[in-house]
Amino acid sequence: MQTSLLLIGFMGAGKSTIGKLLAQQLKTDHFDLDQLIVDNIAMDIASYFEKYGEEAFRQVETKILQKTSQLSGIISTGGGIVSKAENRQFLKEQQNVVYLKTNFTELKRRIYQDKTTIRPLAQEKNTEELARLYFSRSGFYQECASITIDTTNKTAEVIITEIMQKMEEIL
Ligand code: S3P
Repeated sequence: MQTSLLLIGFMGAGKSTIGKLLAQQLKTDHFDLDQLIVDNIAMDIASYFEKYGEEAFRQVETKILQKTSQLSGIISTGGGIVSKAENRQFLKEQQNVVYLKTNFTELKRRIYQDKTTIRPLAQEKNTEELARLYFSRSGFYQECASITIDTTNKTAEVIITEIMQKMEEIL
């Protein structure tokens, strides 16, 4: 694979799961932006939010996002990647940006059921606030994406097949 493919979407959209499986299928590498950030800051994301706040996290996130242009493979981003205009500009300049679009009811269920990932922004919000964040970001994901895949009620296999089909159409 010559170029990279970036996965974007709200928390719980399956960016990491789909990213790993897609990389296996395409026999390429998978990079998780949150993990690259954790490696860089040498602490988990929840602790970093608590110690330094969201804005500091966003600065590190932007720095690591920019560095992904040196990588080749599948890159899963964090759900807040579209909150900065600078990041949106970067994403719009990339060739393959796939938006995993999932309805809010499904995402909310996945986020609250996931006991392994600590998401500071989800933890501190009630359902109404989380919905507001979801709707405030939806247009941003859409405007940054070259491909949009509706993942609601679909298996990972179906989602991957759809991504590959759509990529063939645009490449
Ligand atoms: C965030 C999403 C998280 C992580 C951080 C902030 C967000 O990634 O980057 O907790 O602002 O939506 P996931 O989308 O992988 O949960």
